[in-house]
Amino acid sequence: MNKNLIIKNASQLVTCSGFAAKHGKEMSELYVIENGTVIIEDGIIKAVGKTDEALKDIDESKYNIIDATEKAVLPGFIDSHTHFVFGGYRAEEFGWRLRGDSYMEIMKRGGGIVNTVEATRKASKEELIRLGKRRLDTMLSFGVTTVEGKSGYGLDFDTEIKQLEVMEELERTHPIDIVRTYLGAHAVPKEYKDREDEFIEDIIENVLPVVVERNLADFCDVFCEKNVFSIEQSRRLLSKAKEMGMKLKLHADEIVRFGGSELAAELGAVSADHLLQASDKGIKAMAESGVIATILPCTAFSLKEDFARARFMIDQNCAVALATDLNPGSCFTESIPLVFALSTLYMNMTIEEAITALTINGAAAVGRADEIGSIDVGKKGDIVILEFPSYDFIPYHIGVSTVEKVIKNGVLVFD
Ligand code: NIG
Ligand code: FE
Repeated sequence: MNKNLIIKNASQLVTCSGFAAKHGKEMSELYVIENGTVIIEDGIIKAVGKTDEALKDIDESKYNIIDATEKAVLPGFIDSHTHFVFGGYRAEEFGWRLRGDSYMEIMKRGGGIVNTVEATRKASKEELIRLGKRRLDTMLSFGVTTVEGKSGYGLDFDTEIKQLEVMEELERTHPIDIVRTYLGAHAVPKEYKDREDEFIEDIIENVLPVVVERNLADFCDVFCEKNVFSIEQSRRLLSKAKEMGMKLKLHADEIVRFGGSELAAELGAVSADHLLQASDKGIKAMAESGVIATILPCTAFSLKEDFARARFMIDQNCAVALATDLNPGSCFTESIPLVFALSTLYMNMTIEEAITALTINGAAAVGRADEIGSIDVGKKGDIVILEFPSYDFIPYHIGVSTVEKVIKNGVLVFD
């Protein structure tokens, strides 16, 4: 396939230029080129600039051409926190929550994550691949070109490995790049009820070494939360994972203020995610140690919880990323338009900050800011073309996708 492409005459070429996470005020600068052109060769960005200058001395007949007159062009979005491989659904729980039950009450009486665990254990690999592909197709239509996906609906050796293998297969066959995270400590399985420490030991002894040896995941994650895994258990697991060469993420301070953000800073995690209840101290510690604060507004919305304090985090010089958290329980949505709506309208993030959070900071949150997340020479040709002339239209067209075309590695994959 010809991976040479020129996208020219963009009314706004929103480059989000940079090769590392952007902190605090840096999140406001998108480095927009008016009447811009990007040249991609063999899937990699070769030139970026004003149309006249970029096309000088270029033989356009050697390229596929997209004329982006009156259209804004951005880097592909990065959804840096999802649980998109799962069996079964939990629609009944959504109804219970509407009637007043809390997420944790449902979990305590044997519903929640372990419910999806049963369905995922039963599902065949082929079925999970089929479901995963459909969800990836939806994400692609919203402009997502890289997604992070977690295991965590197996909680036993075979199913955790199965989930990671499903993502490995989808990575090979679907245009979207998939960054895999091992979340073996997502909940305590029934077999280990009241034996959380033993469960953590089992993971450390029997699962982690295989995940590392087979290179099945880049990241290790844990649901660090009251009545799930304690700070001590999370520290033990993540320290071991780090020793084995994995990068770290945490589900931190989601339901109660628990100290997960502080732990993320202590361990040098790449990101701490959710953070609805993160303390001032935890937020400052994350800003200082460079832990990315990944905010998942659709989850807070779906659980009817207060939103994370994104404004305070940015003002404290944190690097904030935004993601969907797609999962069958707390947040069943792939919707990037909803992330934009909630972050700008309800979390007081500016449009520029929200775009940074879904591009270069999302890339940093999956450890790939050197190759994706901005329109810079040397990066992958992963590009979104909007139906509209400026990026303001993204949240302005509330809850509706403004994405007209998606390019992955220089190839048009959604139109
Ligand atoms: O990120 N909080 C823990 N894990 C997921 C929810 C998983 C589920 O409910 O199935 C989350 O919200
Ligand atoms: Fe999650």
